[in-house]
Amino acid sequence: MDIKEIKKNAKERMKEFCILCPECNGRWCAGKVPGMGGASSGGSFQRSFEKLKEIKIAMRTLHKVSDPKLSCNIFGVDLSFPALVAPITGTKFNMGGYVSDEEYSNDVVLGSIEAGTIAMIGDTGDPNCFQFGINAIKKANGKGIAIIKPRENSEIIKRIKIAEEAGAIAVGVDVDGAGLVTMKLFNQPVGPKSLDDLKEIISSTKLPFIVKGILTVDEAKLCVEAGASAIVVSNHGGRCLNETFAPAEVLKDIAQAVGNDIIILADGAVREGVDILKYLALGANAVLIGRPIIWGSIGGRQEGVKITLDTFKAQLYQSMILSGADDVENFKNLSCILYTKKV
Ligand SMILES: Cc1cc2nc3c(=O)[nH]c(=O)nc-3n(C[C@H](O)[C@H](O)[C@H](O)COP(=O)(O)O)c2cc1C
Repeated sequence: MDIKEIKKNAKERMKEFCILCPECNGRWCAGKVPGMGGASSGGSFQRSFEKLKEIKIAMRTLHKVSDPKLSCNIFGVDLSFPALVAPITGTKFNMGGYVSDEEYSNDVVLGSIEAGTIAMIGDTGDPNCFQFGINAIKKANGKGIAIIKPRENSEIIKRIKIAEEAGAIAVGVDVDGAGLVTMKLFNQPVGPKSLDDLKEIISSTKLPFIVKGILTVDEAKLCVEAGASAIVVSNHGGRCLNETFAPAEVLKDIAQAVGNDIIILADGAVREGVDILKYLALGANAVLIGRPIIWGSIGGRQEGVKITLDTFKAQLYQSMILSGADDVENFKNLSCILYTKKV
């Protein structure tokens, strides 16, 4: 199986849910939430794609970087390259149901490990879904991360304990899920969190804690103050709120403000290896990959997830050689590869 076959299979199997456009830019699927798209006109998803595209790489080949280092360590775990699988749920109403949530969880958790990285599992209105993710993490001897919806604090803490018992590497909350349509469908209360709420949640666990869905410097600072280990600079694939900033346009300011105090992950429109390099150069320690992993699972199941991740890894390696980036953990060298000026 190769990446072409995986995508061909996914296209056939996802039918009207996703047509695997030549450019996955949020236009065809605008408004498809539930579905694969971004909320409303799809503006936030589209902006994530466009702002990342505007960033260009300074190609450099007169140097000595012939075997760049891709490996890194996040939350005490060695990763073969700086990309994790984003938490994704709702296989039936978002992707058409070719794989069940249980199958998807197994594919991503186990496929990620085979590619030398780790997956996050998500939470949605259907309580079984979180449990499927936890079961997959258990099967993988704890090698996975659980991301919980911004439910009432007591409900979040209950789920953190379940993740701890499964031996998870880290836990977190996608705070931007505060008004998600998909939670409303199941009549599950979610809402914004105050600083005190966050402190209460974070102090309930010894595991590294991730706040997913940060787009401003002030909220990144609040996460540091609350004692979080990491943030994900993300607009949730454009699925929560239309007309947000793109992660790629706010990341640099956030990294400058809190980069020494907290691990910075970022996601949105990572579609090939060079996109990972762009986010690293803007100040992220690693990225999350979303929609392409869905194609991996639906198009080739666990092996499809592994091959998708391996493809990103090979592309990242190549783009580092061709830009003189020697090490994914050497930010000084990485930050030199960008031309942010529009041409
Ligand atoms: C179908 C679908 C379901 C998602 N479900 C979740 C979820 O349960 N929890 C969560 O934190 N994020 C969820 N996300 C957002 C992703 O974790 C991630 O932030 C986003 O997809 C990254 O953008 P990309 O798909 O362009 O790579 C979902 C995204 C999609 C497309």
